[in-house]
Amino acid sequence: MGPASDVNRVHVFDTTLRDGEQSPGISLNTAEKVEIAHQLARLGVDVIEAGFPITSPGDFEAVREISRKVEGPVICGLARTHKADIDAAWGAVSEAQRPRIHTFISTSDIHIEHQLQTDREDVKGQARAAVAMAKSYCEDVEFSPMDATRADVEFTAEVCAIAVEEGATVVNIPDTVGYTTPEEYADYFRRLYELVPALRGVEMSVHCHDDLGMAVANSYAGVLAGARQVECAINGIGERAGNCSLEEIAMLIHVRADVHGLSTGINTREIARTSRMVSRLTGYAIQPNKAIVGRNAFAHESGIHQDGVLKERSTYEIMDATEVGLESNSIVLGKHSGRHALRDALEQLGFKVEGNALNSAFKAFKEVADRKKQVTALDLEAIVSDEMRERSDAHELASFEVVAASDREPMAKIGVTLPSGETVVGESSGDGPIDAVFRAIQQATGTESELRQYTVDAVTGGEDALGEVTVMLRTDGRLATGLGVATDIIEASARAYLRALSNALEGAATREAETATAEAAVERTPGP
Ligand code: KIV
Ligand code: ZN
Repeated sequence: MGPASDVNRVHVFDTTLRDGEQSPGISLNTAEKVEIAHQLARLGVDVIEAGFPITSPGDFEAVREISRKVEGPVICGLARTHKADIDAAWGAVSEAQRPRIHTFISTSDIHIEHQLQTDREDVKGQARAAVAMAKSYCEDVEFSPMDATRADVEFTAEVCAIAVEEGATVVNIPDTVGYTTPEEYADYFRRLYELVPALRGVEMSVHCHDDLGMAVANSYAGVLAGARQVECAINGIGERAGNCSLEEIAMLIHVRADVHGLSTGINTREIARTSRMVSRLTGYAIQPNKAIVGRNAFAHESGIHQDGVLKERSTYEIMDATEVGLESNSIVLGKHSGRHALRDALEQLGFKVEGNALNSAFKAFKEVADRKKQVTALDLEAIVSDEMRERSDAHELASFEVVAASDREPMAKIGVTLPSGETVVGESSGDGPIDAVFRAIQQATGTESELRQYTVDAVTGGEDALGEVTVMLRTDGRLATGLGVATDIIEASARAYLRALSNALEGAATREAETATAEAAVERTPGP
């Protein structure tokens, strides 16, 4: 992308599918990642960091699919400074319309000494070789001195100067452990510009983690100090406390343009939908009071506030819910709506659903429409996300029976179709109906999982609202989430549990296959 042609335009670099995907329990498959990437393109992000291709064949495959299918944004793959990483990143992004390789190495002494177990000279050499190699493949190369904010700024400057000499187009300054403050981060940028004037000829970027709750504030400070790319993730997901939240920084830039005169290419009306999609597919719920996309972000509880808003919205609202797409519930289908109506409605919502996927979406829609008077846009989004989480090798709910009586514990009898096609049945009592259902599934499948998280939410208001359940399980040491949507929350819980279980078992199988592949590769390849 190179230096911004419009000096006031801030480029949005989305790392939901890379740093965000590193959050525990997230287990997205390739189809889900492609779906999110399409939505990010509709949202108007400038760059999608689609993954870290060397880390697994699954990551490589997902980055390659996104590169092939998603038009518009730059598609970026992450790489350490190792040759094998850069080869893998290029292999995965080379078919993108606008590919980028992002390579990184730490410049803090803490990392150099303890993690890399090397010295500063070696770091400089590795950075030079990596950027030069990436540049030999790809015009657009981003370089990050990891843990920069805890590193000696003079040394980071030397490494950044090398990256620019070798042709880096973007230099990103990560606050890897969420340690910096706005003043300190802005000073860091000022000092870098003083020490390396050539940084004014490339695009500078911010990448802030939220360990002290400062990711958005620090990113904003970096932008005011000259950066024109912000690395961020939908709903702020990412390592530990997460990354700078895309929706917050984008709306901050949008709403307060009066103070800074900056803009982004984000279509703010797509924010709410993107946030819901990422929340559903990752299993990471959004806290109700989360800025911009939380359920209460535009709700007024106190009488004084309600009174003020009724008289004049601007008394207590600095932005309109419609600006972030929170009103989009206009589509309504009923039980007589046909396949075409469903396809058209889904298309309006940005989902391209054809063939078998349309058939199963239609079946799921009919089941809901038979029990619910009206199926709205929000319902459709939930149904399709639920269908998208379906895997061909999944454990499926075959039958479902729960008996609750006031004088004894509830009993559940659950039939599960295994990936082999065989159907098994489990029966159990439990502390409540949900506990009974989960125990019956464990009995049927012969598995033992620890329930780490269970959330239930209503997709819309109203007594006949669809229930949406997210389950996070730890199975054989692996965390995985699953989503289930149904008019009955006990049934939705059973579905969510089975999806989480399938994801955990699939993750374990993939991990075994990947370890075997990696071991074979190590035997074949000389070290970097
Ligand atoms: O936080 C970090 O330092 C990173 C780098 C890979 C940019 O995610
Ligand atoms: Zn990061």
